[in-house]
Amino acid sequence: MTALEQITFNAYHLPQYRNTWKLSHIIETQQFDIPTLFNIFALAKELKKTVNYGNCHYLENIRVVSQFQEASSRTKNSFEMATSFLGALLASSTENALEFSSLVKGESQADNFRMLNQLHPDIIIVRFKNTGDAKLAASVSQIPIINAGDGHGQHPTQAILDVDTIYNELGRLDNLNIGLVGDLRKGRTVRSLAYLMAKFKQNKIFFVSPPSLSVNEDIKDYLNRHHVVYSEHHNLLEVAKDLNVLYMTRIQKERGSEITPNEQVSVSLTEAVKQILPTSAQDCIVMHPLPRGPEISPDFDQDPRAKYWKQVENGLFTRMAELLMISNPEKARYLVDNSKNMVLL
Ligand code: NCD
Repeated sequence: MTALEQITFNAYHLPQYRNTWKLSHIIETQQFDIPTLFNIFALAKELKKTVNYGNCHYLENIRVVSQFQEASSRTKNSFEMATSFLGALLASSTENALEFSSLVKGESQADNFRMLNQLHPDIIIVRFKNTGDAKLAASVSQIPIINAGDGHGQHPTQAILDVDTIYNELGRLDNLNIGLVGDLRKGRTVRSLAYLMAKFKQNKIFFVSPPSLSVNEDIKDYLNRHHVVYSEHHNLLEVAKDLNVLYMTRIQKERGSEITPNEQVSVSLTEAVKQILPTSAQDCIVMHPLPRGPEISPDFDQDPRAKYWKQVENGLFTRMAELLMISNPEKARYLVDNSKNMVLL
C-alpha cells in the first residue's frame, strides 16, 4: 500500500456513529446516524440548562489542544468556551498555526499529529487549511480529532449546530424545503449540511448559486444515491417562496471565488425579502454560518425569522455535547436519562 492508499484506507474506516453516546474522531457529517444526532441535541438541551444554573464541570481532568491553521472567530471561541464551561483545560491553543507552528518549517501534517499524540492530550480540535487534511489527521491520530473545518471540504460541527437550530425552531427535520444559497463550490458549511439533511426523509434541497460556484458533483452523487430530491438555480427569487429553511452563505473570496455585482444580487436576501418573504413561507427561517458579507443586511437582524445569532448560541451547547460524548459518554447519557426521569415524575 502506498502512503496515499493507506490514508484513503484509514479514512474509510472512520468511526460510523450509530445510535451511540460515545464519539471519537468527528471528521465529516456522513459519519452520523439520526439517533446519534438526537442524542447530541438532547444533551445540548440539558447542558444549556446546566450552564444557566452554574456548575457543569464534567470534564475536569480532560486536556484539550486546539490548533487553527486558518482564520476563525466563531468556531474557535465556541470550542474554547465549551471547554471552559465543562471545566476541561485548554492546555494548548495555537492561532494562526501556519505561521506559528512547525508547519511553517515544512513539517508534514501527519508528523504534526504524530507529535501532538505523544503529548497525551485527550481531544485535538483543528481547523485545517487544506481540504482532506482532517481525514489524514484521523488516519494517524489515536487521540480523537475534531475537524473544525478543512479547506473547502467539511465543517461537521457547524452542520450539527445548524440542524439542531432547525429542529429547535421548526420542530422537525423531515419534509422540509431547504434552500442552500451562495458559494456552494467552496463553502464547506453547506456541503456538510447537505449531507446531514439528506439523512432525513422527504427533504428537498434547492441549491442556489452563480453558475461558476455551483455545488460539486460529489454532493450530487451522494444525493442521487440516497434518493434525495434536489434542484439547481441561479436566482433566489425562483425558490424563496417555497422554502422552510433559507441557508445563506458568503462568497469565499479567500479561496478564489469570484462573483459579479448582478450575481451578488441574485444570491442576496434583500430582493427576496422585499418581493417574496413578507407574503409567504410563514415558517421560513433564515440561517447563516457567519461571518456574513453583503448577502444579508443587518437591517434583517430584528426580523423574527433571522436565526443566525441563535445558531451561534446553539453551537456552544452542541459543541459541549460533542466534547462530553467524546470524553465522558456515561455522564452524557446519565444527564439525558435523568432529565427524562424528572419529566416523568
Ligand atoms: C464558516 C467557516 O469557517 O466555514 N464560519 C464558521 O465556522 N461559522 C463560514 C465561512 O467562513 O464562510
